Amino acid sequence: QTGHITIDPGFKNTGSTTSDITYLDGEQGLLRYRGYSIEDLADKADFLGVAYLLIYGELPNEKQYDDFVGKITRHTMVNEDMRKIFDGFPVNAHPMGVMSSLVSAMSGFYPESYSKNDMEEIDLHIIRLMAKFPTIATWCYKKSQGHPINYPKNNLDYTSNFLQMMFALPVEDYKVDPIVSRALNKLLILHADHEQNCSTSTVRLVGSSQANLYSSISAGISALWGPLHGGANQAVIEMLEAIKEDGGGVEKYLAKAKDKDDPFRLMGFGHRVYKNFDPRARIIKKSADEVLAALGVDDPVLDIARGLEEAALNDEYFISRKLYPNVDFYSGIIYRALGIPVNMFTVMFAIGRLPGWIAQWLELRESGQAIGRPRQIYTGETAREFKEIGDR
Ligand code: SDX
Repeated sequence: QTGHITIDPGFKNTGSTTSDITYLDGEQGLLRYRGYSIEDLADKADFLGVAYLLIYGELPNEKQYDDFVGKITRHTMVNEDMRKIFDGFPVNAHPMGVMSSLVSAMSGFYPESYSKNDMEEIDLHIIRLMAKFPTIATWCYKKSQGHPINYPKNNLDYTSNFLQMMFALPVEDYKVDPIVSRALNKLLILHADHEQNCSTSTVRLVGSSQANLYSSISAGISALWGPLHGGANQAVIEMLEAIKEDGGGVEKYLAKAKDKDDPFRLMGFGHRVYKNFDPRARIIKKSADEVLAALGVDDPVLDIARGLEEAALNDEYFISRKLYPNVDFYSGIIYRALGIPVNMFTVMFAIGRLPGWIAQWLELRESGQAIGRPRQIYTGETAREFKEIGDR
């Protein structure tokens, strides 16, 4: 502390804003979007209904829902010139890097010309983002497979459209499995918002300079990519696979996670706010059993995950630090059972989180909050004279 400035690394004890969107209680493990519990929404709502709730503040009635879904359906195609940018990426470019680039490029195709309060045009940008994001996401997968991309089909719902763009091939008919579509719908709802997490805070900070929506969301995608945040769902599966390759014993990895000299962390464990079970992890764990059973998938890493969780929840190191499985611990097991490749797991997180980012950006925009500009405490050199290069 110097003068009136207090340093709070990682903002562990700093609130950045008030918000009406998402409530979470870390001690009790509660999560609500606009007052509705995540348990109810995951069971009874569909993803676009939850997106509407987050963005506009209320669950949509039938007319509002049909209008919202209809607008999104009519904007799922992407400007063909975006393909030229996309085709420039190497085939093994990580999809998160491609997504943040292409969403930023959208600001070139759909330039912001709205004044501060032209809600109608902002709404059109929101619809375009919600509609085109999944389409672009599937290009990454198709390219990695050497397959032609698929165009959206207006007769399919949001998750079914995503699945057909991902997995349909020109040489055969593709039928969306309702079990897969329902499981994906639930996963997207569970990822839709989470108050002021790292990527959402990034979206808000960029938006606070009055940068446009696409640039703000592009920054959020980049922040989510990190393995300590959304990238953890990919890191969890890679960790579980490593344990499986290593004979499946979890004790060695628990020891590594507890060893301060070892950079290894138990990925998918721990949370800044939840000091109890992450309510989303509880739902996803239950859903993993149901989806794998329904699809007849037997994934050996699911047993390893359960064994790891069991061992950690009985280990003093994790108990004392209140480290529980978080949203990323079991989600990858379901994504994999749905046929989604590991390097697309964090993109799935981003598809889910998109309405939350949009809702938070809109709330910030409407609040007229001052530009985000934190202070620092300087600890560098005191004033010194310039030295010519020959004297250095
Ligand atoms: C998400 O914020 C959100 O809401 C995020 C998210 C969302 O929906 O947006 O919920 C999504 O990002 C979930 C988190 C995904 N990340 C991981 O699973 C990566 C592994 N977990 C961690 O790195 C960590 O737990 C964080 C990043 C999630 C939280 O980090 P914090 O709050 O900064 O906690 P910390 O690193 O200070 O850890 C506190 C203690 C430390 O030990 P001590 O120094 O006190 O001895 O717990 C230890 C840490 O070493 N610890 C772990 C651990 N997580 C914390 N030790 C081993 N394995 C872990 N996973």
